[in-house]
Amino acid sequence: MNELIVLAKEAQKKSYSPYSNFKVGAALKAKNGQIYLGCNIENGAFAPSCCAERVAFYNAITNGVTKFEAIAIVGDKEPCFPCGVCRQVMLEFCDKDFKIIVNNKVYTLEQMQPYAFKLGE
Ligand code: THU
Repeated sequence: MNELIVLAKEAQKKSYSPYSNFKVGAALKAKNGQIYLGCNIENGAFAPSCCAERVAFYNAITNGVTKFEAIAIVGDKEPCFPCGVCRQVMLEFCDKDFKIIVNNKVYTLEQMQPYAFKLGE
């Protein structure tokens, strides 16, 4: 847990967030032990902006990794819980017991997003 939080803080330093001035970092641990980082990346047109969590997921998936164990999220203001869009991305790739570490506490995906939408279920 500590290692993931430390790495999320490292990723947070890379945040490109000149519009909100709110830096977020995420460290995503895959089931194969690899860790993928993400920071929020904003855009002057706003809509193309992407949260740190999704950047971490897309980074892993681009590297062929699709099974995940845990994610740590660090924001300028704590607790920094994942937004609804990022929760939906987690639901696509993760089991109910996927761990979400926010402000030194561990939540499961099921706790974070009950009554989830899943196509075909
Ligand atoms: N943000 C994240 O990256 N992750 C979160 O969990 C919450 C919000 C980003 C989006 C935007 O760049 C900035 O934080 C302010 O909303």
